[in-house]
Amino acid sequence: MDTKLMTETAKAMVAPGKGLLAADESSGTCKKRFDSVKVECTEENRRAYRELLFTTPQISDYVSGVILFDETLRQKTKDGQPFAEFMQKKGIIPGIKVDGGAHDMALHPGEKVTEGLDGLRKRLEEYFKLGARFAKWRAVITIGKDASGDLLPSWACIEANAHALARYSALCQEASIVPIVEPEVLLDGDHTVERCEDATEKTLATLFNELTWQNVSLEHVILKASMVVSGKDNARQAPVQEVAERTLRVLKRTVPAALPGVVFLSGGQTDENATAHLDAMNRMGGAPWPLTFSYSRALQAVALNAWRGSAANVGAAQAAFHHRAQMNSLASKGQWKKDLEKKAA
Ligand code: 13P
Repeated sequence: MDTKLMTETAKAMVAPGKGLLAADESSGTCKKRFDSVKVECTEENRRAYRELLFTTPQISDYVSGVILFDETLRQKTKDGQPFAEFMQKKGIIPGIKVDGGAHDMALHPGEKVTEGLDGLRKRLEEYFKLGARFAKWRAVITIGKDASGDLLPSWACIEANAHALARYSALCQEASIVPIVEPEVLLDGDHTVERCEDATEKTLATLFNELTWQNVSLEHVILKASMVVSGKDNARQAPVQEVAERTLRVLKRTVPAALPGVVFLSGGQTDENATAHLDAMNRMGGAPWPLTFSYSRALQAVALNAWRGSAANVGAAQAAFHHRAQMNSLASKGQWKKDLEKKAA
């Protein structure tokens, strides 16, 4: 276990003005995204699309690392350079999604537990050799009601997922890989923002308790958090400042100051909201950790839409991606302004 390496990795992941690109969609999720723009989800199209993102000029000014899917870590640029090597040369750290996806939790209808611990120690060894220096494991927490009317999330779901996240983290650190722990509280549903805040607080408190019990070094873990937002079908959508205040309050209550950084997922928020929320939190200040982005949809949607599978659109797609990365870089410093979006439109 190389703690010096993990210290450097974690620090670089959340370097000032930089954040992560989540490009670790499984082939199934990638198909959904490609279907939306009528692109066939072949291995070559996935490779070409990822190459478009990674080769965007100046992207390393804003992106410190990229979370990859297993297939992508093994792929190469069209000139034959492994993606991981290409990124390292540009000062971008390759990372890897290692979880086996969220599966229906037995005896807990409506809830999920993330699988993938079996054989993980061996896989991490190989990922390190392939160049990955950080990893990601996503757990999914659903807010709602079960068939008998009991409120979800259940304690069992929060606990099972926190336990798996902690065991995954311990295995990562043993392999000198920085774990990103991602307990995503879903925004699907008609719940209030108060319920989201409550579920997020309980989830994070349980997670850090489990990490401590599993002897995970908190100095070498990055939290990937969901923001405290209203359920997407709730009539009252909490405004930007309220989301920022609630999110920061929950984080301060539950996340140890020892953590090197907190990154956020976008989770289905609009691109601009994801940026505005991050910006508002950084304007508030006072957090003991850097707060930055680790978005998939909120960075990529515009690029995918511009690309639509055509080589002729690569330049436009890269410009769109560059713009979103730049906006989120500004937000990570609390320097984003809404009119910067209009100018680009
Ligand atoms: P979104 O930003 O699209 O939520 O994706 C982030 C992610 O990595 C989900 O695991």
